[in-house]
Amino acid sequence: MARITAGVATSHVPAIGAAIDLGKTRDPYWQPLFAGYDFVKQWIANEKPDVVFLVYNDHATAFDLNFIPTFAIGCAERFQPADEGWGPRPVPEVIGHPVLAAHIAQSLIESDFDLTIVNRMDVDHGLTVPLSLMFGQPDAWPCRVIPFAVNVVQYPAPSGKRCYALGKALRAAVESFDEDLNVQVWGTGGMSHQLQGPRAGLINKEFDNAFLEKLVNDPDSAAAIPLVEYLREAGSEGVELVMWLIMRGALDARVLERKRFYHVPASNTAVGHLVLENMSAP
Ligand code: DHB
Ligand code: FE
Repeated sequence: MARITAGVATSHVPAIGAAIDLGKTRDPYWQPLFAGYDFVKQWIANEKPDVVFLVYNDHATAFDLNFIPTFAIGCAERFQPADEGWGPRPVPEVIGHPVLAAHIAQSLIESDFDLTIVNRMDVDHGLTVPLSLMFGQPDAWPCRVIPFAVNVVQYPAPSGKRCYALGKALRAAVESFDEDLNVQVWGTGGMSHQLQGPRAGLINKEFDNAFLEKLVNDPDSAAAIPLVEYLREAGSEGVELVMWLIMRGALDARVLERKRFYHVPASNTAVGHLVLENMSAP
């Protein structure tokens, strides 16, 4: 049987990808940020996930503003890094797991989560930056990846509560897949940031740190945060944090916290990162 062994949360700021691609990770601006990811690189080399279910948002890259699915599951064999205006990032293509993705789609849709099935899409920084942060710069990504895109770009976005419930249903879906697979769930985006308007540059350390604590140790109360509170406290793009709740919902009620990291800023964003293990994992 497939098992969800752990969850990872991380911001996905595109400038982090550019710093990696341009060899700037030891620059004074970037060094403290990348130091926060030393632990996870070692940890994941031992954990060796077979599949990462990677929750991210498409930033009007694969889906333009003509079509905006609320929840979209990538069922393709492979996904190419997108050209976001500067050419595609020089990172490996992403190899999917179409059989597990189709199983998850079936299970979640039967559980009343109306996913959009995507058989072809390019993946942007929301997905490729987290892969680079965890795995560095390999010739090929060391595991398969199921991209799961959540609309947090145009209102209405799904609520934190809905995302948390989806995470729980995802766990049941994975655990009913009849193959021994080590599956991780990653939630990306956040933390506080606002990229436009009079409040551009907004950072709220107090909100972010309270969110980290709640997400780890009191996830039901993190799930109850209404969208308007993310908007008010964490800025217009802070709502990306609802994606972390899918990850958290897929884990045990009580988890083993292996890493918590918070750093301000990277570009315009407060960076948060968590590594959580399921107590029930073997
Ligand atoms: C930035 C952060 C994001 O999450 C994003 O999608 C784009 C830009 C930033 O801080 O620059
Ligand atoms: Fe983003």
